[in-house]
Amino acid sequence: MTHQSRTVHLSDYQPFTHLVTRVALTFRLAPRATEVAATLHFAPNPARPGRHDLRLDGENLTLKSLTLNGKPLDIIPDATGLTIPASLLPDAPFILETLVEISPETNTALEGLYMSRGMYCTQCEAEGFRKITFYPDRPDVMARFRVRVESDLPVLLSNGNPAGQGAAWAEWDDPWPKPAYLFALVAGDLKAHSALFTTASGSPVQLNIWVRPGDENRCAYAMDSLIRSMTWDERVYGREYDLSVFNIVAVDDFNMGAMENKGLNIFNSKFVLASPETATDDDFGRIEAIIAHEYFHNWTGNRITCRDWFQLCLKEGLTVFRDQQFSGDMRSHAVKRIEDVLLLRARQFREDGGPLAHPVRPDSFVEINNFYTATVYEKGAELIGMLKRLVGDDSYAKALDLYFTRHDGEAATIEDWLRVFEDTTGRDLAQFKRWYTEAGTPRVSVTEAWDGKTYALTLRQENPPTPGQPDKLPKVIPVALGLLNPNGDEILPTTVLELTEPEQTFTFSAATRPIPSLLRGFSAPVILERQASPEERAFMLAHDTDPFNKWEAGRALAKDVLARMIVDGASPGPDWLDALARVTLDDTLDPAFRALALRLPAEDDMAATLHAAGITPDPARIHAERRGMGDALARHLAPQLPALIAALAEPGPFTPDARAAGRRALRLACLSLLSRTDGGAAARAAHVRADNMTEDAGTLVCLLDIGEGAAEVQRFAARWGDDRNVMDKWFALQIAFAAPDRVAGVAGALTRHPAFDWKNPNRFRAVLGALSAHHAGFHHASGSGYRILADWLLRLDPLNPQTAARMSTAYETWPRYNADRSSLVQAELARMAAAPGLSRDLAEMVDRMRS
Ligand code: ARG
Ligand code: ZN
Repeated sequence: MTHQSRTVHLSDYQPFTHLVTRVALTFRLAPRATEVAATLHFAPNPARPGRHDLRLDGENLTLKSLTLNGKPLDIIPDATGLTIPASLLPDAPFILETLVEISPETNTALEGLYMSRGMYCTQCEAEGFRKITFYPDRPDVMARFRVRVESDLPVLLSNGNPAGQGAAWAEWDDPWPKPAYLFALVAGDLKAHSALFTTASGSPVQLNIWVRPGDENRCAYAMDSLIRSMTWDERVYGREYDLSVFNIVAVDDFNMGAMENKGLNIFNSKFVLASPETATDDDFGRIEAIIAHEYFHNWTGNRITCRDWFQLCLKEGLTVFRDQQFSGDMRSHAVKRIEDVLLLRARQFREDGGPLAHPVRPDSFVEINNFYTATVYEKGAELIGMLKRLVGDDSYAKALDLYFTRHDGEAATIEDWLRVFEDTTGRDLAQFKRWYTEAGTPRVSVTEAWDGKTYALTLRQENPPTPGQPDKLPKVIPVALGLLNPNGDEILPTTVLELTEPEQTFTFSAATRPIPSLLRGFSAPVILERQASPEERAFMLAHDTDPFNKWEAGRALAKDVLARMIVDGASPGPDWLDALARVTLDDTLDPAFRALALRLPAEDDMAATLHAAGITPDPARIHAERRGMGDALARHLAPQLPALIAALAEPGPFTPDARAAGRRALRLACLSLLSRTDGGAAARAAHVRADNMTEDAGTLVCLLDIGEGAAEVQRFAARWGDDRNVMDKWFALQIAFAAPDRVAGVAGALTRHPAFDWKNPNRFRAVLGALSAHHAGFHHASGSGYRILADWLLRLDPLNPQTAARMSTAYETWPRYNADRSSLVQAELARMAAAPGLSRDLAEMVDRMRS
């Protein structure tokens, strides 16, 4: 990396030189010439004794005036901010007033104040506020904000409580001191879907979901999710909401999922808008989870924020953990856990095993936006879960109460977080802290011995090297264990073993040789290495009392079968086929669980597994064998499928609840199998009858998956052409289910489609994200997948570096593949690195992935 590179180190942290006690902002909105007038009240910071220059961040701002205690200052900003020398500053409180001009309409990076189809909105986390006005843009500077918005647009919103409005203006006052990254402003022609909430202590809260006119009838599920989230946080964590209004706004152009700005959450519209006709069951589940996530941030993120961006997992890991608990309570804990682990393995284990591996708390970065990762979020959440498992539920609840009382109103660190657990339990968490500071997924291997009386289980942990961290220390790993006897009776209920040494042996008395059920509930984010026969795995799939491990046994069996198909050309044997058939047809099991059991191992997962076993994965072969596996299952189950599909039909109108969704998931999984033997006849008939998007899109997938569905694709576009969220699905599905040799062609054609608005992140992700996620297509031997993505990243980067950088992670798995593929990837990385004016965001990512 050449230009613009600056590495920020955790070890360089110092408190800011000054305190900001008050902020008053006035926005005079205009698309290309918005004026921002700021009045900032500063005081010297006692934590930084002595006289200091005042450094304010600021980017792409036109400074029109600057005064200190009313007197004009003649200071010229540089490219990243402005400095007022200590010699000009009083050693006492003072007031700085600035007037700047910005251009929201030409802000294509979608960071700071920007426009999305006629509405103004903001995204400030992590460092976007500096694109709005000059300010110490760091999370440990917390201040009270008062905001005035002037515009002709009908709806003018900012953080906190309303503080007056008139013709073409509105004022907002936020009583809670906050860092600048939680600032938000929205202005537009919007309509509200509203409700009233009363907190446990009796305070009324006006809830509004603001959307474009015409979308009001798609807000009911988000509102319902919000009310359930508020109630849940009161009941489970004792946390109440703390303002008189809570606003949510849906925006079509958004880099991420959503943002927890104080009292004014801003959402990607795809995570708010839902109706049965337009949203799938997965969409409903995600909306519920993300609404909850952003709401929960009000306490874990806003009331208690992060001291610096290295502590990002303090709010994100904890808030993801909380939203996972919530979704589990609303739906099924077993199903939720399986889904979360699937995601953790697909995204985080993949990241942790490649060139982009970094600790949950990184200790340096070039661009912080590149660290909103699966490791910080999902592994961060796993660490909270482990901590809870290690200290127990009661101590967890006490520690959280202490955290909220001790740190309310503060900007805290991981050390503060761990200290509340140490103070609550008396436990030393020094070893646990390694989970935060060391990257990489530990591998735990198992050996067993039984002498007729005693069963000895030896666990060995290995912590592989990661970039910049060659040597690692043993971690504390909670291994939840149950033991079954050969009849399938549980002889040891779930017990948590604590593995703290490189190797440890645990013994149990057992009169028959027990079968271990290890890492129940996926009790730690590790790779468990234990060989088992197909018979034993099938036995555990049938008998394990832990639902996660029951599923895990089926998954391990499937992966073993598929690996043997790929490596030895074996065909799927009766162990797997019969075991899976039994689960599929077992009406005592939750349909959602059965649908998950039917899901074949992902191709990317197989590639990682083969690579770990020392075998170079061939994506084309993995794809072909996985299809063969599905065909074998389809033939095996064919006689039973029509009756099962019929029995799973939902009689009444669509409801998005977990029970109905689970039945639809299993029904569609069966329809997909049946399509392989009936040429798609049943799926085509179901597609015609579908009255909800889950079945509409789900049956279309069945057809695309067998190379059919061209007419249905046309009809779908004709029906949904005006709906941006639905059309994103249309773009993505055609690529996701194309045959490997056709992926580049389909993706190329779709990028030439008139509705391919590549500046919209959702649409860009629908096409290029689907291409990157198509394992055999992206890694096609021709290199076409690698090339198309690089072409588009280079095109997007000058406009929207954040999304370009994020999508470049598609290349992170290159070390797994053969020399031809590795050098094709390296050539694309080199091409991007050499592009003139590459953003700091994409430059950092490319640099980390180059060999
Ligand atoms: N805090 C937001 C959330 O987790 C995400 C913000 C992401 N922003 C970014 N620049 N990467 O809900
Ligand atoms: Zn978050």
